Amino acid sequence: MGRQMIRIGFYGSSKEMAHWNATLGARLGDIEIHDLQSDAGQQCDVALVWAPPQDVLASCPNLKGIILQGQGVDHMMRDETVPRDIPLVRLVDPDMSDALSHWAILNALDFWRDGAHYRASQAQREWQPRAQRPATGARIGIMGIGAIGSVIATRFAALGFSVRGFARTERQLDGVEVFAGQDRLMAFADGLDVVVSVMPLTPDTTGIINAEFIRCLNPGAFIINGGRGPQIDDEDLLAALDSGQVGGAALDVFDVEPLPQDHPYWTHPNVRVWPHVAAQTNADTAAEQVSAAITRIMAGEDPANRVDWSRGY
Ligand code: GLV
Repeated sequence: MGRQMIRIGFYGSSKEMAHWNATLGARLGDIEIHDLQSDAGQQCDVALVWAPPQDVLASCPNLKGIILQGQGVDHMMRDETVPRDIPLVRLVDPDMSDALSHWAILNALDFWRDGAHYRASQAQREWQPRAQRPATGARIGIMGIGAIGSVIATRFAALGFSVRGFARTERQLDGVEVFAGQDRLMAFADGLDVVVSVMPLTPDTTGIINAEFIRCLNPGAFIINGGRGPQIDDEDLLAALDSGQVGGAALDVFDVEPLPQDHPYWTHPNVRVWPHVAAQTNADTAAEQVSAAITRIMAGEDPANRVDWSRGY
């Protein structure tokens, strides 16, 4: 008996759709993949999407589950038309955790080793050594130590950093000092040289990196945001960059994306703007878990990495 044909509604570029068609087809056999907004796409069993327009998911009569092409679910939380009684699955792809940890390490080490200073010196043909910061012991704090943050924290520990983790609830992580709960936030921030956020966006994390938080950091600290833009209070960060309380920032996510042309981040000498590329979805590495999720959804079973609507991720 042949397997039942599975119809997938896709929201993303047509190039990505062709790629998923190949990787999922190789695993699931008889599938059809259509643009979610087409008539055939609206008849889908499962939707594979990233930030679809409002109402499009709500109008699919056969929809049994929704799978996201990324890790963050904040855009789904904001859309009240998304059906909440069927599984919503987020990607938890080790390849994306690797990519995000590389990006965080790249930016942290570039700051720690004065990359900006030496690039500026080279542009002027100036030989201008600076005293090297200690090779070990820099205090780094990772905000969010789940699937991605725990990989980042462990890798910084292996590089000789002294690593703290900030989490919503208590957990153990080898070589990492964990601070759990909002009331531990300032103790977590106290004296940090580098902060990395990879938290999901929730009411608790919105505006969490503000003037009060920044005051607790070591003067001249570096802030790396690979979580979500609204976690940083932009006005407070810009003021701290201007006063020198913050020495620099590497930002991959913003309140509004693409970052508006007139935003001061674009031209600030100590800010590095990345266009939301720290960890891009890889249809080759993610296909295994997406096909497993589709199989479970089609069988009426609970898929892994199901989003908890009440928790917010
Ligand atoms: C990217 O930001 C993601 O959430 O996967």
